Amino acid sequence: MKKIFVMIMTIFIAMGLLAGCGNKKPTERVLRFGTEPTFAPFEFQKEGSKEYTGFDMDLAQAIGKKIGAKVEIVSMGFDGLIPALNAGNIDAIAAGMSITPERAKNVEFSVPYYQSGLAVMVKKNNKMIKGIGDLKGKKIAVQIGTTGAMEAHKISQAEIVEFNTNTEAALELKNGGVDAVINDLPVVAYFLHQGGGSAYAKIVGKTVSAEDYGIAVKKGNKKLAEEINKAVADLKKDGEYAKIYKKWFGDIDIAK
Ligand code: ARG
Repeated sequence: MKKIFVMIMTIFIAMGLLAGCGNKKPTERVLRFGTEPTFAPFEFQKEGSKEYTGFDMDLAQAIGKKIGAKVEIVSMGFDGLIPALNAGNIDAIAAGMSITPERAKNVEFSVPYYQSGLAVMVKKNNKMIKGIGDLKGKKIAVQIGTTGAMEAHKISQAEIVEFNTNTEAALELKNGGVDAVINDLPVVAYFLHQGGGSAYAKIVGKTVSAEDYGIAVKKGNKKLAEEINKAVADLKKDGEYAKIYKKWFGDIDIAK
């Protein structure tokens, strides 16, 4: 009796195992990249489209290809990206995120992949503000959680208005609600020349700071950071990085 029972159990277990095997598809690796998509030409949505496009989006896809992972883009507020990474809701950040010592305490950054900096944008007809030095006591719009916001907070007596998106910050300038916007230079330049911004706005003064963008991964995830670094290095070697760069920034020479 006992023997029969054991035999039947064995058959059941074997069947279970076989069924399990049959169902198992090789699981595809997925890399979830978090971004905030009001940052053209790095990440944005073309009018009427739900798809995310831009330099960072192409770079994320190219990195995924090199690593052998499917890339998923998760959109959220810029100030929510690092918390989402730490909570494990995303695997990496591709959001034109500047590498800063402060952030590097909380995340692991890849090698720099793009040289940037901050710029001051004012109304086209503004003759008073000629650069960041003229922003004392002025009203400044920024995107919340960005280096632009941090820079604005250093200006004495200035009133800082923080927006969730860059779209709102630019609109506030257009509507005369603020005197200036501080944002990343390539983004402001793109907005002026390709986003219709030059109709009412201009850049003033010199580039405020030098900043490098990095892909961020969870603190301690050195393995993924290294995989991304290797992918970026390979993309630079095989010309794919230059191709993506050219697609979004034209023929500007890059010695990187
Ligand atoms: N480079 C700036 C920073 O790191 C701004 C980035 C904003 N990015 C975005 N996708 N909205 O703070």
